[in-house]
Parts: sequence; C-alpha cells; structure tokens
Amino acid sequence: MSSTATLPTHCQPPPMPLSEYDDEGQTEIYMCVLWFAGELGITYYDTEDCSIYFMSGIPDNEDLKLLHKVIDEVLPQCILSSAKQDHTLAKFLNNVSATVGGKQENGKPEVVFYPNTDFGLEVSKQRILSKQFPFIPSHMTAAEKILYLSSIVPFESPLVIRAIGGLLKFLDRRRVGVELEDGDVGVPILAFKKFVLTDIVHVDQDTYCVLQIFKSEIHPSVYKHASGKKEGLSLYGVLNHCRCKWGEKLMRLWLMRPTRNVTELNKRLDVIEFFLLARNHETVLTLQECLKNIKNVPMILRRMALSNTKVSDWQALYKTVYSAICLRDTCRSLPSTIELFQTISQVFTDDLHYIASLISKVVDFEASVSENHFSVRPHVDPIIDEKKRKLIGLSDFLTDVARKELQDLDNRIPSCSVIYIPLIGFLLSIPQLPTMVDKSDFEIEGLDFMFLSEEKLHYRSTRTKELDSILGDLHCEIRDQETLLMYQLQTKILEKSTVLNNVIEYVAHLDVLLSLTVMARENGYTRPRFSHSQIIRIKDGRHPLMELCAKTFVPNSVHSSETSGRIKILTGPNSSGKSIYLKQVGLITYMALIGSYVPAAEAEIGAVDGIYTRIHSRESVSLGLSTFMIDLNQVAKAVNNATERSLVLIDEFGKGTNTMDGLSLLAAVLRHWIRQGTQCPHIFVATNFHSLIQLRLLPDTHLVQYLTMDTHQDGDELVFFYQIKEGVSMVSHAANIAALAGMPPQVIARGVEVSELLRNGEPIRRIDHSSKEKQLESCKSLVDRFLSLNLDDPQLDLKEFMNQEVLPSASSIL
Ligand SMILES: *[C@@H]1O[C@H](CO)[C@@H](O)[C@H](O)[C@H]1NC(C)=O
Ligand SMILES: *[C@@H]1O[C@H](CO)[C@@H](O)[C@H](O)[C@H]1NC(C)=O
Ligand SMILES: *[C@@H]1O[C@H](CO)[C@@H](O)[C@H](O)[C@H]1NC(C)=O
Ligand SMILES: *[C@@H]1O[C@H](CO)[C@@H](O)[C@H](O)[C@H]1NC(C)=O
Repeated sequence: MSSTATLPTHCQPPPMPLSEYDDEGQTEIYMCVLWFAGELGITYYDTEDCSIYFMSGIPDNEDLKLLHKVIDEVLPQCILSSAKQDHTLAKFLNNVSATVGGKQENGKPEVVFYPNTDFGLEVSKQRILSKQFPFIPSHMTAAEKILYLSSIVPFESPLVIRAIGGLLKFLDRRRVGVELEDGDVGVPILAFKKFVLTDIVHVDQDTYCVLQIFKSEIHPSVYKHASGKKEGLSLYGVLNHCRCKWGEKLMRLWLMRPTRNVTELNKRLDVIEFFLLARNHETVLTLQECLKNIKNVPMILRRMALSNTKVSDWQALYKTVYSAICLRDTCRSLPSTIELFQTISQVFTDDLHYIASLISKVVDFEASVSENHFSVRPHVDPIIDEKKRKLIGLSDFLTDVARKELQDLDNRIPSCSVIYIPLIGFLLSIPQLPTMVDKSDFEIEGLDFMFLSEEKLHYRSTRTKELDSILGDLHCEIRDQETLLMYQLQTKILEKSTVLNNVIEYVAHLDVLLSLTVMARENGYTRPRFSHSQIIRIKDGRHPLMELCAKTFVPNSVHSSETSGRIKILTGPNSSGKSIYLKQVGLITYMALIGSYVPAAEAEIGAVDGIYTRIHSRESVSLGLSTFMIDLNQVAKAVNNATERSLVLIDEFGKGTNTMDGLSLLAAVLRHWIRQGTQCPHIFVATNFHSLIQLRLLPDTHLVQYLTMDTHQDGDELVFFYQIKEGVSMVSHAANIAALAGMPPQVIARGVEVSELLRNGEPIRRIDHSSKEKQLESCKSLVDRFLSLNLDDPQLDLKEFMNQEVLPSASSIL
C-alpha cells in the first residue's frame, strides 16, 4: 500500500497528492434562473469543464428555499434572469446580489437582468439548435443533429430551455472564457449535464462547521480552487484518499450533499463491500494505479475547443485514455451485478481505442517535445513527409550550392556558405575581408547585399532565390501543415468527447468509493443498514476524527427510536465527553448518508432528512453575534423545520444568557417536541441545567430518555470513563474539575460548603472574620478605655466617645 494510505496518527492533515494539475485560474460559474408558476428553471455554465448544467423544472415555493440552496452550493459569479420577472424572484435576486456602488462585495454574486425577449421559448430552441457544438460530429445532418441534441437537452421543459437560451445569449455577449481570443472563437460548450437535488438531506453551514465535515474556514465549494491546499482535521480530510482531482471534487460534493435516496446509498455501499473482500485487494491496487494517470481532461478539451492545445496536453490525453481503457478492462472482469462496474464497461466505449490510436498514429511525441511544437509522425501526411525529407537532405545540398557559388566569386574571397533563416529564406554568407570597410565596399556584382552580422556579409544570389522558390520556407510550411493536421485531430477528438466526459464522471465515482474503501479497511468500519422506520441505532460507535487522535477511544452506543426514547437528555460534568458523543452521533449518521462505511460495530439508520445542530464552537462565536442569539437562531431553525426524520443535536443551550431564561426556553422547546409525539425528531440535548430534571420541568414520557457519562469518584479525584449510561448526573463535579484546574483547596472547600448551604436553604455566613484572639484583644482594650473614663467629669462627652471609640471597634468585635 502506498504512503497516502497510512493514517494521520498525529492529526496532521493528510497529504493531497494532486499538485500536478496546472492551476488554470479560478473557476467561474454563470447561472441563469427563471421562475414561473411555482417552478424553477435553473441552469449554469462552469468554465472549468465548459459544461452547461441544468436542473429540470422543479417546484419551489414562495421562499425559494431550493434556489437558495443551489446558490449556496454552486457559488455563482453571476446570476442572470429576465428583466420581466415575478416580483418575488426579482426581490430575492436583488437581495442576493451585493453590488455596492458598482463593486462586488466579496463572494456575493453579480445579478444581471436581460430583456425578456432573450428568454423566448422559440428563440431559445433555435439558439440551441443552431449552435455549433464541438461534440456534434460534422457529418451529422440537421435532422440527426436535432435528434442527438434532444437526447441530451431537456426540450420537454420549456422553463429550462428558456433559461439555457438566455444563458447562451449571455455567454456570447460576455464572451465568457474567450475574452482574449479572436472574435470568431465562440464560447466552448463541451457537454450538457443534468444535476439533481432530490432526496437531499438538509444540512446548514453551521453543521458543516461544528461537525467538522469541512475545515471551518473553508467553504465547502472551495474544491473549485483547492488544488494543493491542505485540509485540516475534518471528515473530508480524513476520508479523502482520492487519486485524481475528479474524485476529490466528487467527494466534496457527496459530503456537501448527503442523500436519503437509499437505493443510491446501497449502490455505493455495494461497491465498497466488494472492494473490501480480501480477494479483491489486487484489483483495488490495479484500479488505483490507473486512476493516478487520469489527467485534467476537461481543461484539455477546453484548450482543444479554443485550438490552444499544448504538446503536454496530447501526452496527458493519451495517458488518460490509455488508463481509462485499463480501468474499463478491469471493470469488465468484475461482476456486472454491481452497477458501477457495468456502467463503466459500457460507457467507456471503443471510442477510447479510436482516440488512443488516432493520437498514437499521428502525434510524434518525441519530436513534439524536443521542438515544443505539435509534430506529426512519418507516413501520416505525404506532403509533410516529402518536406521533411528535403529538410533533412538540406545541409548536404547547401554545401553543394555553396561550392558552386564560390567558383563564381572573386578570388580574394576564401570561403562561403549558404544558410537558411526561417521567414527570410536562403542567404549566401561571406566573411568580411579587411579591405571591406565602407558600405560601398560590400557591394558585389550580381549579388543583393542584405546585412552584416558577426563579421559575415549576407547576400541574396540568383541561386539562393532559386532555392527559396524550390524549397520555400520549408520549416514554416511544415509547421503550418502540421498545425492544420492538429486542428483536424482536435475536431475528431472533440466529436468523441462524450466518452471522455463519461470517463471523468465515472472515474470520479470509482475514485471516491476506492478512497472510502481504504478508510473502511484501515479503521475497521462497518456497513450501515438503512431502515424504513425512524430509527438511529449505533452499536459501539466511535468518533471518526477523535479516534485517530486518541490513543484509546471508548466506543458508545446510540439507540433512538419510538420505543427507546427519541429525546435524549444528556447530563454530566464538563469534559466528560458529552459534546464528543453528540458529534459522534451526528458524524456517524452523516457518513452513512453519503454512502460510507461507519466507525461502529453495527449501525442502522432511518432515512434522515435533515441534521440540525447547535453545538458551540469557536467559529460561530467569532461572527460577533451573542452566543444566545446564535442559540435561538439555530434552535428556531430546528423547531421550524425538523421532521420526525430529522436529527437534532443541541449542546449547552442557553449558555450565554441568565440561567432562568435559558432553562425555561430549553424546557419550552423540549415540551414543544414532546407534544409532537410520534412526529418528534431524534433529539440529543447535552445540558448543564440540572434543574431541568430536579425541578421536573418535563412531563414523564417514554419519549424522553436521560443519559449521563459514567464517572467514578476515586478519593479526591474524578475518573472519567467516557462511557454513556442511562441515568442522570445529579452532582455537578465542579469541585473536582476545579481541583484538576489547580484551584487552592480552601477555596474549593468553601465553594462546596456554600453550594451545600444553598441547596438546603440555610443562611450563608461570612467568613472574613478576624481571629478570636484579635477579637478578644480589641474587646479588652475597649473595656480598658471605658473603665478609664472619669464619669464625674462634666467635660466628658459620652456621645463623642461612642462615636469615636466604641462604634469603630464594633465591626471587629461582633
Ligand atoms: C434579504 O436578506 C436579508 C439577510 O441577508 C434577510 O434578513 C431578508 O429577510 C432578505 N429579504 C428578502 C426580501 O428576502
Ligand atoms: C435514487 O437513486 C437511484 C439510483 O441511484 C435513481 O435511479 C433514482 O431515480 C433516485 N430516486 C430519486 C427519487 O431521485
Ligand atoms: C427553517 O426555519 C427558519 C426559521 O427559523 C428559516 O429561516 C429557515 O429558512 C428554514 N429552513 C431551513 C431549511 O432551515
Ligand atoms: C461547564 O462549562 C461551562 C463553560 O464551558 C460553564 O458555563 C458551566 O457552568 C460548566 N458547568 C459545570 C457543571 O461545571
């Protein structure tokens, strides 16, 4: 196993093996949105793979939640819509954009409105049908072309067609991606791809962050320009052992979009299960070896479409195609009962052989590299062969010509040569004699003087002119001819680009699943089972990130169902592992919902439709909102949106506000869910509000189960077992934790005393008295002074004595 498969035992980010891809600058996304009669038409153009993505007419209601989700995920540079739009969408888009005084605020998309006529249905259809797509073979008739296009473009959805039409118009007007090209170079469109957002599990930004799905400061969509960047400790970082860029990209997408389509999840798990079998280990290694050679094909295709193909692109493409054939042949030998293998066997068509043989027959890699120019192999083009032969024979031939020239020259001239300069042609070169000083001395009869350089005089002669016309600018001609051939080759390959797009798509699937296989094997993960009932049952689960950092990790089980309580209230001292437990439940569920094996002995998960979290983290505090505001915000989201299929994780609710407010709100929220009965979500609440239990703020119901972290009092020391058990932690272990933190014993003792008195409703006495001896002494001195008073003295002011002497001493005596 190669080094990338070893574990990050010290929590360093795993290496990203992918710096070889040239960074082609940032990817840009241009999106077009139409909304009509409650349906959305969304399409966008991605400059990275020059593809148009579309989402078929999908319903979205007034609050445009789905659109919001898509925008959050895709992060478009620019959003286009029709000027004549429904009021709601216009308002929504204007709100999304942040054009402040003509300048884009960081990260917010620009919003552009075009006249409604640009989005007409007929106009749009025509625009699509009349466009020259490189992937449409030139030999197709108009009718064949329409047939072909209608198999990949959803002509049955008017809204999507109108959106695509508008987008095409926009791309051409802006000249997206071809700003620097000649005017006749169109915006390359290399594929149409459908994207789906059905069956997604709701996850919000906070959850990505607190569950450490992605490293906090990086938005999940940064995969677009993430090459070479290191990912900190995150689920993505730990799971990602992908061998090619497309695998990494898809891994991020899966992690960003967990699904509850159980069919899809089981398909993924089937592949992992197959790869995990010991007898398939060799196959895994073979496939991974091939995956390493899958290069940046979309970028190469894009350069082909713009006729900017580099020598290295031909090599990279050849290597990719060759490896794709190897992948296909391997998959053909695997059981076709597994859909991915069958799909790869089929869609990696013989067009790959066609492309590979075309490249290997035409491209002379060795010469191309040494000349840094596309060079054609012999026997491809007779004209080029002929010219090259001439060029090779040229030096002997020129010596011959030079000998003839010398015979015709003045005897004083000892030698001469004939040279070839590209773009200028052939010249006679003569050494400058000492007698030749002035320009007039350079003139030689019958020769046209051209220039003096390095003490050599250069002339055109009748013979060199003859050579020019016979041999022409041989070099240039060969190059031109070769370039022409390269264009033809490009066109032929672009016509077969469908197979290359399929390669990228399925290679990514294979890569991600192999990567998940590696993790599953190395960490002893198990296959989760999906259940139709609303259940989360995990036996001996582990935290997938913590277990990599800790020497030993105590596994814990989870059982949330109608019979075992859907609301778990978790109490226990600080640092006993409550938050870890909460995150562990979240992470294991999350992993199951992307189709990964999970760190547990067994796991059974119902189709979870959303994960709502309120877990304190450094990141969310830094937003400048008060903790309690974030609390309310996040918990409100859960209260408003969580269904009986959702998972809700709440840690330390009410931490930032006064105890009474926090406690009563938490109780109110929980009572709200308890009232929902069987519709209650899976809820895990970790809290320090022991009064929630002591004051019996929740009704007695089988829906609620109390859990605590097992601890043991060993003399003064509190031992944590990190083991969950049923029950309630009544004592706060604050004293033990304070001792651990180095608090002086007398301070702790007093704390325990006061806490005890409070609980028993007894008065608390001050302890800052002076000592008994001092007290006695001051008493004595006061009495002495009193006795020394002469009460008969008429001058004696008793009032004064009381004020000056007695009262000040009182506080130290009483
Ligand atoms: C506009 O966005 C802000 C937050 O960015 C939100 O509070 C407000 O409700 C939005 N308004 C509309 C009309 O969507
Ligand atoms: C679920 O996934 C399967 C295959 O992965 C797909 O055929 C099916 O359409 C999906 N179901 C839905 C409702 O999207
Ligand atoms: C859930 O409810 C909140 C209101 O608290 C709302 O702002 C949010 O958009 C809703 N939807 C989701 C998916 O969170
Ligand atoms: C636990 O720690 C939090 C701060 O993180 C503090 O607010 C809370 O009072 C502590 N609770 C106990 C029981 O020590």
